[in-house]
Amino acid sequence: MIVFDNISKIYTPTQFALKNVNLRILPKEFVSVVGASGAGKSTLLKLLIAEEKPTEGKIFLDGLEVTSLGYGELPKVRRRIGTVFQDYKLLPNKTAFENVAFAMEAAGAKDSDIREDVPEALGLVGLLDKADNFPHELSGGEKQRVAIARALVNRPEVIMADEPTGSLDPITSIDIIKLLLKINELGTTIILATHNKEVVDELGRRVITMEKGEVVRDEEKGKYVI
Ligand SMILES: Nc1ncnc2c1ncn2[C@@H]1O[C@H](COP(=O)(O)OP(=O)(O)O)[C@@H](O)[C@H]1O
Ligand SMILES: [Mg+2]
Repeated sequence: MIVFDNISKIYTPTQFALKNVNLRILPKEFVSVVGASGAGKSTLLKLLIAEEKPTEGKIFLDGLEVTSLGYGELPKVRRRIGTVFQDYKLLPNKTAFENVAFAMEAAGAKDSDIREDVPEALGLVGLLDKADNFPHELSGGEKQRVAIARALVNRPEVIMADEPTGSLDPITSIDIIKLLLKINELGTTIILATHNKEVVDELGRRVITMEKGEVVRDEEKGKYVI
């Protein structure tokens, strides 16, 4: 379970980026975090992977207190949470295969496991036939699939996706969300920060709505309401 316990974040003294946020996210949930630009969605996700520290409050990933980890301990949380971003963050001079393999190498995986698991991850996202393509030889949707394969190849408990469809057309966006749903059905918790109303309303899953750093709505089978 992920717990945000009374989290506040202030970057600049005059304004709360997050204010008294309390959340519990259960294993295998699919949660959308919605809200206008600047509402605090990305900050919430950055705190979860300890990319930023809260001004106040604690965050737990099961027993692990994310907010008290020292720099050297960050892999403890990073290897348990896969990340997906709007701009894909692929390495341009590595193929799809190599991009996914790189995440395993960084985690210290054996070559034999890499040879087995990378094709499996690329297969899951439907991109085995593009394994040897470089990012510039892939469409936006395909690039995002590689990023998702990279996020899941180390079998994290959680995948957090920050505006993963922000650069994609509506049809491709729906494909990417369906892929995240499939991964969720295989047992991974998904936290999706998005602007995409169509996507969220179709999902019929939990929706957390943020406004100026505060959680103003948190509904099972929620809708995108701002
Ligand atoms: N690194 C930063 N330094 C200063 N202010 C920031 C920083 N990152 C975000 N903010 C501010 O925090 C608030 C929340 O931003 P963010 O979490 O990016 O919102 P969202 O992802 O919902 O658009 C905004 O007012 C934004 O300007
Ligand atoms: Mg954001």
